[in-house]
Amino acid sequence: MGAGHAWQRVCRVDDLQRSGAIEFNLDGTACFVISLNGLIAAYVNRCPHLGIELNWMPGRFFDLERTFIQCATHGALFTPDRGTCIAGPCQGDALSPLEWTLADGAVLVRMPV
Ligand code: FES
Repeated sequence: MGAGHAWQRVCRVDDLQRSGAIEFNLDGTACFVISLNGLIAAYVNRCPHLGIELNWMPGRFFDLERTFIQCATHGALFTPDRGTCIAGPCQGDALSPLEWTLADGAVLVRMPV
């Protein structure tokens, strides 16, 4: 079993729910986890079209209405549940999801197998 597939603890669920989004590093890859309108999802922090990180400000990933994940550079919008780009230069493309689970009040993530 590769170390890349081990579960990693990211944060407490309450902290995620309070802040909405938390950035972390998984095996050297910048990632983030979100809690938005009752949904939790985790993605690699990399836009599918330029390969750059989505946010400028730490932990800021949402559009003004807090409905979508937004690329701070281009305003592209991604659905929070699947990471699909619905507006912007990478429309039709999608963010790379991570697997996540909850254990003892904490959020754990790992790279998909
Ligand atoms: S880097 Fe792709 S939409 Fe901004």
